[in-house]
Amino acid sequence: MIGIKAAREGTDDHDLSALVEEFFRTTFATDNPLITEAVRRMLAAGGKRLRPRVTLLAAEANGADPRDHLPLAAYMELIHVGTLIHDDIVDRAETRRGVNATAVDYGNRVSVLAGDYLFAWIFKNVTANYPPPVPHLLSSTLADITDGEVLQLRALGNLDLPLAGYIEVVLKKTASLFAASAECGAIMAGAAPLRVKALRDFGLHFGIAFQMLDDLIDLTADEAEVGKPVGNDLRERKITIPLILALESGGDDLRGEVARYYREEPDPDHQAPATRRLAGRILAAGGARKTRDAIAGYVERAKLSLAPLGAAPARGELAALADGLARDSLARTR
Ligand code: IPE
Ligand code: IPE
Ligand code: MG
Ligand code: MG
Repeated sequence: MIGIKAAREGTDDHDLSALVEEFFRTTFATDNPLITEAVRRMLAAGGKRLRPRVTLLAAEANGADPRDHLPLAAYMELIHVGTLIHDDIVDRAETRRGVNATAVDYGNRVSVLAGDYLFAWIFKNVTANYPPPVPHLLSSTLADITDGEVLQLRALGNLDLPLAGYIEVVLKKTASLFAASAECGAIMAGAAPLRVKALRDFGLHFGIAFQMLDDLIDLTADEAEVGKPVGNDLRERKITIPLILALESGGDDLRGEVARYYREEPDPDHQAPATRRLAGRILAAGGARKTRDAIAGYVERAKLSLAPLGAAPARGELAALADGLARDSLARTR
C-alpha cells in the first residue's frame, strides 16, 4: 500500500500552501486507480486548503517544524474532500471548486463508494501511524460531520429551527473538522493540554464563523467567484444563519414569503429570479447585518481562545485567518 509518507525533501520553501500542494502532487495515491483519479481531480481543481493550514499552524505554534506534519495536514484535507464528494450528492450541487461535482462526472454510485473508500483509507493509515488520541479524534469528527449533515436534512424547511439548533448543526458539520485539525496539530507537536485545548477552542469558534460566512456567500456571491452553486441553500430549503436572523425581525410578510417559496417545487435553476428576489429580501431584513455581527463575535472568540499560546508567530497567522472571515463578511454586506 502506498500511503502518504513523510516527504521533507523536495522543498525548502516555508510557504505552507506550497508545501501542501507539493505534498499532494507527489505522494497521494490509493490502491484503487479510479478513486485516486477522482480525488486527485478534486485536489487539482483548487480549494482554499484551510484545514491543513490550521493543522500546520497549530503545530508551528507549539514549536514544531510544519514540514514534519504534512501527512497529518493532508489527512485533514482528504477528510474534507470526502465530505464534499458526499455533500454535493446530498445537496444536489453540480459544481465544486469550479469544475463538475464528482457525482456529475463519475455518477452517484461511484461517488458514494469513493467517499467511503477515502474515509476508510484515511483511517487505515491514521490508525497505523498515529498515537492515541489522534485516530479517535478523527473518527469522532467524521461521525460528527455525518451527524450534522443528517440533523441539517431533518431541519430542512423548518422555519422554527432555533438558533441553538443551527449552531448544533454547524458545530458538527463544519466546526468539528477545524477543531480536530487544530487539536491534532497541537498534539503531534507535543503541546501541553492547556495549549491543545486553546487550539481546539480556536477551531470550534473559527469553524462556526466560517460556516456562517459560507451561508452568507450562498446569498451574495456568484458561481464564477466561488466555483459552486449559489442560491442553493434556498433551493434546498436549508435553514441558514442569515435566514434565521432575518426571520427574527422580518415580520410575518417575510416569513410568509419564505414559507411559500419552501412549499413550491425547487426551480432547477438555483439562480432563478424568485430565488434572487428572496435572497435580497433576507439580506435586507437584517440577514446581512446580523450575520456579519455574528461572524465578528465568533472571530473575536476564536482569537481570544489563542491567549495560552503567548507570542508564538503562528498565533498571529491563526488570528489573521480568523480576521479574514470577518473582513470578507464585511465586504460582502456593504
Ligand atoms: C466548503 O468548505 C464546505 C464548508 C464547510 C462550507 P471550503 O469553503 O473550505 O471549501 P474549499 O476547500 O475551499 O473548496
Ligand atoms: C458544509 O456545508 C457541509 C460539509 C460538511 C461538507 P455546505 O453544504 O454549506 O457546504 P457547501 O456550501 O456545499 O460548500
Ligand atoms: Mg453543500
Ligand atoms: Mg454552503
